[in-house]
Amino acid sequence: MSGCPYFERRHLLFQNQPLEQKEEQDASQSGVNKASKGGIIYGDYLKLDKIVTAQVLQSELKGNKIHDEHLFIVTHQAYELWFKQILFELDSVRQIFINGHVRDERNMLKVNTRIHRIVIIFRLLVEQFAILETMTALDFFDFREYLSPASGFQSLQFRLLENKIGVPDNLRVPYNRQHYRDIFKGRDGELLLAAEQEPTLLKLVEEWLERTPGLETDGFNFWESLESNIFNGLDKEEQNIEQMSDCEAKEEMMAELLKQKEVFTSLFDIKRHEHLLSKGERRLSYKALQGALMIYFYREEPRFQVPFQLLTSLMDIDMLMTKWRYNHVCMVHRMIGSKAGTGGSSGYHYLRSTVSDRYKVFVDLFNLATFLVPRHWVPKLNPNVHTFLYTAECCDSSYCSSEDSD
Ligand code: HEM
Repeated sequence: MSGCPYFERRHLLFQNQPLEQKEEQDASQSGVNKASKGGIIYGDYLKLDKIVTAQVLQSELKGNKIHDEHLFIVTHQAYELWFKQILFELDSVRQIFINGHVRDERNMLKVNTRIHRIVIIFRLLVEQFAILETMTALDFFDFREYLSPASGFQSLQFRLLENKIGVPDNLRVPYNRQHYRDIFKGRDGELLLAAEQEPTLLKLVEEWLERTPGLETDGFNFWESLESNIFNGLDKEEQNIEQMSDCEAKEEMMAELLKQKEVFTSLFDIKRHEHLLSKGERRLSYKALQGALMIYFYREEPRFQVPFQLLTSLMDIDMLMTKWRYNHVCMVHRMIGSKAGTGGSSGYHYLRSTVSDRYKVFVDLFNLATFLVPRHWVPKLNPNVHTFLYTAECCDSSYCSSEDSD
C-alpha cells in the first residue's frame, strides 16, 4: 500500500465516517503543541526580530523605493552570514592545530569534517550570485547612487577570512595605491592586523606537513630515496631514447626529457626553493613540500588517507575562492561595465586583477602534480615503514578527542 498521506486520505473518504472521527485517526495531527507550555520559541531563538527587520532600503528612505534593492540587501546579508559560519569553522580548526591536538591523529577527522564543511559553503556562495543576476543593470542603476560610498571592499569578514586562510599581505593587489587595511578604522583595523599576525591556516598546515612520518633522514628518508629513483629513471629513459634511430620523434622525446630533468633538478634544489619562496611563487617550506608530496604518493596507506583528503579540501577552498572572485567580477562587469566602484576603485579592472594565483594560498599543492612520476619510481616502503604507516600517532590509549579542542 502506498505511504502517500494524500492517497490514504482519499481512501478514507469512501468510508463515510464523520469528519471529527476522521481527524482523530489522522496520524499527521497526532502531535502536541509544546510552544504553549513555555520555553524559547523559534523567532526568539533565532533573533528574527533583528534579522528580518534589517533590510532598510536606502531608495525608500530617499523617497524613491526601488524594488530590487531588497534583493541586493538580502543577498549581501546572506553572504555575510555564511562568511561568519566559515570564520567560525576556520577558527575552530586553527585552534585544534594551535593546541597541538592534531598530534593525536584521531582529531584529524574533526579537522577534515570542518574544512569540508567550509568547502560546501563556498560552493553555495559561488552559485549564489545567480540570484542577484536576476537583477538587470538598469534596475541596479536605479538605486546604485544611494549606496555610495558603501562597498563590499569594506567587508571586514571577507578580509578576516582571507587573512586567516593565509593570503599574504605583500601579494595583495593595492587598492588605489593604498593598503587594504587603511579603510578600516578602530577595532576593525585591530582585528585585521591580529588576523595577519596570528598563525594562519597555511602556517599551521605547513608545520603539520613538516612532521609527516617517513621524512626523517635517519629512517625511511623518503626525499633522498625519491631523488635517486627519479634520476635513475630519467637516465634509463635517456639511454632508451639514445638507442632510437635518428628521427623527428627522437629529437622531440629528448627535448621533453631534458625539460623533465630541469623540473626535477629544481625540485631537489633547496636554494631554488628559497628563491621561489621569496618571490611568493611557493608558499610552503621545503620540508612541508616534501611532506605533501609524500602524502600524495602514499595516499592509499591508511595513515595518509585522511591527510590526503585534507590536502584535497584545501585546494578546493582555493579553487572555490578563485571561482567566487571570478563570478563576482563577471557580475560586476555586467552590472556596471567599466565604471568606477562605489567604494572608489577602478571597479571591474581592479577586481579582474585579483583573480590570480597571488591569492591562491595553497598554490604549492596544485603545483605538486608537476612532480608526479610513474608509480614504480616511487620508493617502496620496507615492511617496517609499511607497518609504521598503518599505526596512527595518538597521545594515550583512551579516546582523547579533546573537548578543549572543540
Ligand atoms: C550588483 C552587485 C555587485 C556589484 C556591482 C559589486 C561591485 C563591486 C566593486 C566595484 C568592487 C570593488 C571595490 C569598489 O570600488 O567598490 C567590489 C568589491 C567587493 N565586493 Fe562586490 N559587488 C556586487 C555584489 C557583491 C556581493 C553580493 C558581495 C558579497 C558579499 C560582494 C562582495 C565584495 C567584496 C568582498 C569585495 C572586495 C573584493 C576584493 O577587494 O578582492 N559584492 N564589488
